[in-house]
Amino acid sequence: MAKTLIITGGAGFIGSHVVRLFVNKYPDYHIVNLDALTYAGNLENLTDIEKAPNYTFVKADITNAAEITDVFSKYNPDGIIHLAAESHVDRSITDPNAFIITNVMGTANLLNAAIALWKNDFTGKRFYHVSTDEVYGSLGDTGLFLETTPYDPQSPYSASKAGSDHLVRAYGNTYKMPFVITNCSNNYGPNQFPEKLIPLFINNICNKKPLPVYGDGKYTRDWLYVIDHARAIDTVYHDGRNGETYNIGGFNEWQNIELIRLLCQTMDRKLNRAPGESEQLITYIRDRPGHDRRYAIDANKINKELGWKPSVTFEEGLDKTVDWYLANEKWLNDVTSGNYQHYYSSQYANR
Ligand code: NAD
Ligand code: TYD
Repeated sequence: MAKTLIITGGAGFIGSHVVRLFVNKYPDYHIVNLDALTYAGNLENLTDIEKAPNYTFVKADITNAAEITDVFSKYNPDGIIHLAAESHVDRSITDPNAFIITNVMGTANLLNAAIALWKNDFTGKRFYHVSTDEVYGSLGDTGLFLETTPYDPQSPYSASKAGSDHLVRAYGNTYKMPFVITNCSNNYGPNQFPEKLIPLFINNICNKKPLPVYGDGKYTRDWLYVIDHARAIDTVYHDGRNGETYNIGGFNEWQNIELIRLLCQTMDRKLNRAPGESEQLITYIRDRPGHDRRYAIDANKINKELGWKPSVTFEEGLDKTVDWYLANEKWLNDVTSGNYQHYYSSQYANR
């Protein structure tokens, strides 16, 4: 094999799309998917490539330093693409420590293992850290996040991701370890766990359950189709300059309530329901504490420097996403049973 890459969090939403893209596109790379299989990790996401000769799954926990050191010495990776994280803002509000331990300490363990393995010979080596635009905090009505925007995280999730970004830059500066960081906007698409807005609402519309809109519904997010994020990660891993940060987004801002209306209309059409039927399910509930008002990415750097741009429009991406969830009822039932049901009843009780 020409190269070995460890992809952390490869059983999760974005990670599974990254693993699939790399396994299929680079048959001469050995892709090692390192994942602890938390509630968000699901090997059903990867059944189509699980038998590929260049793919290995390793169940390991990034918070366990000894386990990570063992995996690194066994597989001797040339590169790390790090996606494993606790990723849901609402969970970070109820259990911040889980985020600090996984996102900060887990990233530190990976950095330490990489430094120890590579010693001072970094030829052909790269640590790629996948982060979020939420580290920049909240925007007002105007402006966009640039790579130079000062960090101002507002939730335990975004603070823990900011901490991990700082660690990666600090290791790059101190030990001269080659790295890249990307900060991406909100993703949507197949295989997203139905605790995040779009898959949760698709599931609730299917089951004619209320659609819990936080606050006034006028919060704004910038949405990117997950396969376009995976393509961007491929581009930056191979062509991004060492030590650089690239923001990833599709200039695609939506107010939550406008997005929810479009989703309801799409679902009504696909489910042969009367126009307007699903919108009746919209229910305004108490706001998320510390809710960031607006995120919006300036993606000019990655576009101009590396030539990456999204491949689908939001309408196309949303259509494909709804089709995927409607065609994958078993996947949805499997993930909504068990732990998720418990989370749902505690998260939305009394709101
Ligand atoms: P996800 O929650 O769907 O998946 C996370 C994966 O990490 C799961 O497979 C889980 O099992 C694994 N994991 C969690 N803790 C672990 C541990 N201790 N050891 C090993 N594996 C562990 O997350 P996602 O939405 O796919 O996000 C992936 C990455 O992308 C995260 O770093 C997130 O911060 C970042 N990101 C996400 C978005 C988004 O909109 N979802 C946007 C920008 C950046
Ligand atoms: P989410 O998918 O949790 O992503 P993030 O908080 O990381 O941006 O939420 C997207 C937006 O949707 C955010 O403004 C919160 C809002 N939201 C609701 O109104 N109701 C919900 O049940 C959820 C999960 C989110």
